[in-house]
Amino acid sequence: AAAEDTVRIGLILPMTGPSASTGREIEAAAKLYLQQNGTTVAGKTIELIVKDDTGTADVTKRLAQELVVKDKVAVLAGFGLTPLAAAAAPISTQAKVPQVIMAAATAVTTEASPFIVRTSFTLPQVTVPLADWSARNDIKTVVTLVSDYAPGLDAQKAFAERFTKAGGQVVEQLQVPLKNPDFAPFLQRVADAKPDAVFVFVPSGFGAVFMKQFVERGLDKSGIRLIATGDVTDDELLDKIGDVALGTITTHHYSAAHDSPENKAFVAAFQAANAGLRPNFMAVGGYDGMHLIIEALKKTGGATDGQGLLDAMKGMSWTSVRGPITIDPDTRDIVQNVYVRKVEKRDGALYNVEFATIEAVKDPVKAAK
Ligand code: DHB
Repeated sequence: AAAEDTVRIGLILPMTGPSASTGREIEAAAKLYLQQNGTTVAGKTIELIVKDDTGTADVTKRLAQELVVKDKVAVLAGFGLTPLAAAAAPISTQAKVPQVIMAAATAVTTEASPFIVRTSFTLPQVTVPLADWSARNDIKTVVTLVSDYAPGLDAQKAFAERFTKAGGQVVEQLQVPLKNPDFAPFLQRVADAKPDAVFVFVPSGFGAVFMKQFVERGLDKSGIRLIATGDVTDDELLDKIGDVALGTITTHHYSAAHDSPENKAFVAAFQAANAGLRPNFMAVGGYDGMHLIIEALKKTGGATDGQGLLDAMKGMSWTSVRGPITIDPDTRDIVQNVYVRKVEKRDGALYNVEFATIEAVKDPVKAAK
């Protein structure tokens, strides 16, 4: 197709390095979306350009610049970690190119550019409901343990504020280095503090390492309950983590076990296209991000000016495989259900089985402003 008939989407993801699972899931989901919906929109041909930033912010920034200047992409998308999304934000602002965040989940990240729109979630959005559940379920004392970077600190703050307000006590707040984490000394401190529960956040792809050390330190037999955001019991890892995860209570916006016809069809198609790989919440952020971009292009009749696309994205609502979602027109962040889940065995495999729903949750950090 001639250049003017092609709309390019630049998808920047960590395809290698410690967050490679995020890149793998999002790329697979974006490709599945196009396979199912076709690559022709309003008379234009959609071209997806996937770039590996290796999880390094300098690389994300350089790739975003190249995609805008050389490839003339209409939209930048992906962004597997908060520092990567933040590094690209000034380029979106300068070039007036929408930046669709499919993964990164720090509350304030959407404020780094007026051209950012998010289809993932925020850590406070999924953490507040867990603090509420804990306070109602005989948990009186908690130690928090998170990866030491923005989304972890977001989760820690949201949990402590909400749980304390509900009458609970946070006895210790621990931060574990993000790179090559050794959880052992931190888990020892949890064991020594003997709280009713330990609240954990680690990013997607790190949950198996955490759980292995949790068992090695004997925390699974300590009587201290494990509560976490769904990042820890990530669907891509959960079955590999094994039975030690059984009974873990988490809150999140997506489970592969979500009971809806849309999700059953999505999981089946994703697994068929990817040698049985189970889609996780990253895949869903990617799938919905593609939907947002394609539907925005339909609304503009194929016009690619950044402000027009951004305006078309604001306020859009649809039935996602995770449930009903809306892009808040004021904050450009996602409004969605948050589910309380328990790890259970279904047909011989482990799943996060949803048992309660908090509907239409906004990011509480921006809602409070
Ligand atoms: C972020 C990354 C993750 O893999 C995740 O599960 C949550 C948040 C982040 O860097 O924002």
